[in-house]
Amino acid sequence: MPLVGNLPLLSLLFLFLNHGLAAGSTFNIVSLGAIADGKTDASHAFQEAWANACGSSEPATIYVPNGAFYIQSGNFSGPCKNNAITIVINGTLIASSNIQVLAQSQAWIAFRQINGLSIYGGVIDGQGIGLWNCKHSGKSCPDGATNLEISHAQNVNVNGLSSINSQMFNIVVYGCENVQIQGVNVSSAGDSPNTDGIHVQQSLNVNISSTSIGTGDDCISIGPGTTNLWMENIKCGPGHGISIGSLGRQVEEAGVENVTVTTATFTGTQNGVRIKSWGRPSNAFANKILFQHIRFYNVNNPILIDQNYCPNNQGCPGQASGVKVSDVTYQDVNGTSASEVAINFDCSPTNPCTGITLEDIQLTYNNQIPKASCKNARGTASGPLQPRSCLA
Ligand SMILES: *[C@@H]1O[C@H](CO)[C@@H](O)[C@H](O)[C@H]1NC(C)=O
Ligand SMILES: *[C@@H]1O[C@H](CO)[C@@H](O)[C@H](O)[C@H]1NC(C)=O
Ligand SMILES: *[C@@H]1O[C@H](CO)[C@@H](O)[C@H](O)[C@H]1NC(C)=O
Ligand SMILES: *[C@@H]1O[C@H](CO)[C@@H](O)[C@H](O)[C@H]1NC(C)=O
Ligand SMILES: *[C@@H]1O[C@H](CO)[C@@H](O)[C@H](O)[C@H]1NC(C)=O
Ligand SMILES: *[C@@H]1O[C@H](CO)[C@@H](O)[C@H](O)[C@H]1NC(C)=O
Repeated sequence: MPLVGNLPLLSLLFLFLNHGLAAGSTFNIVSLGAIADGKTDASHAFQEAWANACGSSEPATIYVPNGAFYIQSGNFSGPCKNNAITIVINGTLIASSNIQVLAQSQAWIAFRQINGLSIYGGVIDGQGIGLWNCKHSGKSCPDGATNLEISHAQNVNVNGLSSINSQMFNIVVYGCENVQIQGVNVSSAGDSPNTDGIHVQQSLNVNISSTSIGTGDDCISIGPGTTNLWMENIKCGPGHGISIGSLGRQVEEAGVENVTVTTATFTGTQNGVRIKSWGRPSNAFANKILFQHIRFYNVNNPILIDQNYCPNNQGCPGQASGVKVSDVTYQDVNGTSASEVAINFDCSPTNPCTGITLEDIQLTYNNQIPKASCKNARGTASGPLQPRSCLA
């Protein structure tokens, strides 16, 4: 599967080496003054390459050769004059390790308001360790920057990229339509705070495939307003699993609809597949969700719906979640739970979960049958089931 992810990158590099570029103009950041010494700021060269590519009326390519390039910040905005910009990264982009430089920004490298962008290859290193240490020390620290933000964009392809050591979220897809993320890996320390692997929100038709994520927070987190999200061939761990939510923080909030996770492996994660909502009033919802062909290895809460999220018991205690969770299917799920309750549906008393389907579930805890716990959860079960269904 990594082979599938890397094939387009390899063939593109092949084109480079053997035929020059296929179409349009190419802007090599080294020709524009970037130095691959890992410390001279290459932001200006990259920004100039972007201005050229974005301003071109023909398809255009930006090329980052092999080597380490220090990028203080990368703000790449459209709208552009063409809808086929390609960025080929053969080297590594490195952020500042000084938390004063970046941690106040929302994102380190951002692509905004672009229609038609492909990124192939590359390692982006957010150097987040200084900020993680600050957060661990209990001092007051800035939130930190996202390694890679793609926002208000359409028709985007990210292929064969690695995101490492992000200060905050690694990759954010926000306000987008038609985004393919393929063969992308994320690696941040297992105890790094808020370093979600990929966060998708307010977006339509996003496809994440052949992706390996190890991080300190959710491997993939799905925020309000996400529709038609497909996740296939995902490896998660360490991390907090794949999470829809937290939903329902706001009273008026867009719902999440038609989300599929198919063929996913979770190793030593805090949760497996989770739906999570604040315990407070909201008109948000999660509908038409499918979790299929899932393998768990030593996962703490393999199957979880938690509608009583209320961090620090502030602004929600005693309230019921308004988020309506419906039509959620778990199909062909097996492996080991690290806790006794392997299935936990803790749904809202005012908005019970409906249409939950359990099909072919084989979970163990300490080589024994684990437990299933249901509160306000309705649905049906079929096929071999261990633990047995507790659905009403
Ligand atoms: C990419 O970098 C590798 C070394 O990591 C080098 O062998 C290869 O020629 C480079 N490819 C291009 C197209 O520059
Ligand atoms: C990024 O660049 C765009 C256009 O060049 C500008 O409008 C915007 O304010 C910049 N954003 C940041 C966060 O610097
Ligand atoms: C991603 O990780 C897999 C191993 O899980 C590896 O085979 C693949 O080459 C990696 N891809 C990238 C882009 O680093
Ligand atoms: C998602 O992308 C993968 C890889 O290109 C592809 O195999 C799969 O069919 C796509 N899924 C959907 C629903 O388009
Ligand atoms: C659900 O999303 C998938 C892609 O993830 C798409 O192929 C399918 O058409 C969507 N279903 C509906 C009913 O829109
Ligand atoms: C899970 O199911 C797959 C496919 O049926 C099988 O290969 C694997 O051994 C099973 N694993 C466990 C832990 O039951």
